[in-house]
Amino acid sequence: MKILVVGSGGREHALAWKLKQSPDAERIFCTPGNAGTAEIGENVAISAGDLRALVRFAKENRVDLTVIGPDDPLAAGVVDLFAMEDLPIFGPTKAAARLESSKIFAKELMRENGIPTAEAGTFERSDDALRFCDRVRFPIVIKADGLALGKGVIIAPDPAVARSIIDEMMNQGRFGEAGRRVVVEEFLRGTECSLHALVDGTRYRLLQTARDHKRALDGDAGPNTGGMGAFSPANNWSAELEDQFHKKIMRPLLRGLQEKKITFRGLLYPGLMIGADGARVLEFNCRFGDPETQAILPRMKSDLLPLLESTIDGRIEGCRIEWDQRPSVTVVLASGGYPDKYETGKPISGLSEAAKLGDVQIFHAGTRRANGGIVTAGGRVLAVTALGSTIQAARARAYDAVTRIHFEECHYRRDIALAATTNEREFIKTTSP
Ligand code: AMP
Ligand code: GLY
Repeated sequence: MKILVVGSGGREHALAWKLKQSPDAERIFCTPGNAGTAEIGENVAISAGDLRALVRFAKENRVDLTVIGPDDPLAAGVVDLFAMEDLPIFGPTKAAARLESSKIFAKELMRENGIPTAEAGTFERSDDALRFCDRVRFPIVIKADGLALGKGVIIAPDPAVARSIIDEMMNQGRFGEAGRRVVVEEFLRGTECSLHALVDGTRYRLLQTARDHKRALDGDAGPNTGGMGAFSPANNWSAELEDQFHKKIMRPLLRGLQEKKITFRGLLYPGLMIGADGARVLEFNCRFGDPETQAILPRMKSDLLPLLESTIDGRIEGCRIEWDQRPSVTVVLASGGYPDKYETGKPISGLSEAAKLGDVQIFHAGTRRANGGIVTAGGRVLAVTALGSTIQAARARAYDAVTRIHFEECHYRRDIALAATTNEREFIKTTSP
């Protein structure tokens, strides 16, 4: 089969790497890909946002399956466009992807179906949102309705900050159209957990759990980023939580979508907050998580290709997914300054020395080939994943690999998965504002 992976991050490298292992995979294309995907398949210079060019490429090259990595093309309707041309594609339609692309849509659907989530108000007018803030306890969380490159969620510690954020988003166009409507919600305390479900419209299979580290600096300090590391399985998950997750979240959600005549096919990743009263939904994502995917897929023993295909054909229920029971730890290497200003074009060394370590996978994100070598080309540069017999062993191995890799102004967190090896209470403390 010919497979096209759309996107250029560590998640897409991990997807391409895993799909390449399938006995049915003949050729892998990546649009636009990175220096890592170029080693697995063929990079094609089409941006993930150029939907018509993607359709044209898939048609001309008789691609048997297209796999979409990022959220934007899904929200823009790439799956609908492919479907019109009878081109097989993994991912939800534009209508189903609203679960991620409209936080108001997601919140209302959760409310209608009794799905546990933060208490919230949804607003189209700033004076209504401001009045609501007079009545609630602080801190509160203000969320732009639309996609805002992962930056549209802001915690307001007091009414003055809340007022200025609401004004910036709703009246002054911070985040553009995405911020014209907002959700204002209760601040939830607890620990976060990322679930991934392969959904075929009516049925689903869960992947292994993971947790990510969103803040830039050790001890969960500094600004939010796209993700500085992850580990799998999550240390705050249990059989009891999983049972509740099926009953109170996944089944009501799929039922609620069906009532609206919306069919979700693809990867649904609910971000959860686990508190004293169980799991509540923070958000829905309609694609694989980054960097969770880089932690989860190296643990997957089964062939990923038929699993993705089964979401399209409605056959997920018959699929079994086998896992390596060993935990994984993923450390992201970023450019100095990320998530703010950073420089690119720095030569990267030590990749092959690091790759020689057993049970280590190096996934590229912001990298490109230049002058016979590989240089940095983005904020998040690499994601290094290691498996180990324990989370401590996986951690030690991941950092062993990380210290063999060098580029100027490389920044990474030293405490990825650390709390999982010591005390869960540390996590509870750090998610409070
Ligand atoms: P979202 O894009 O909705 O997942 O929000 C991004 C991040 O903001 C989440 O992963 C949480 O760390 C945090 N967050 C979102 N909503 C809340 C909430 N209601 N209470 C506390 N933290 C939140
Ligand atoms: N790990 C966060 C995300 O993929 O949205």
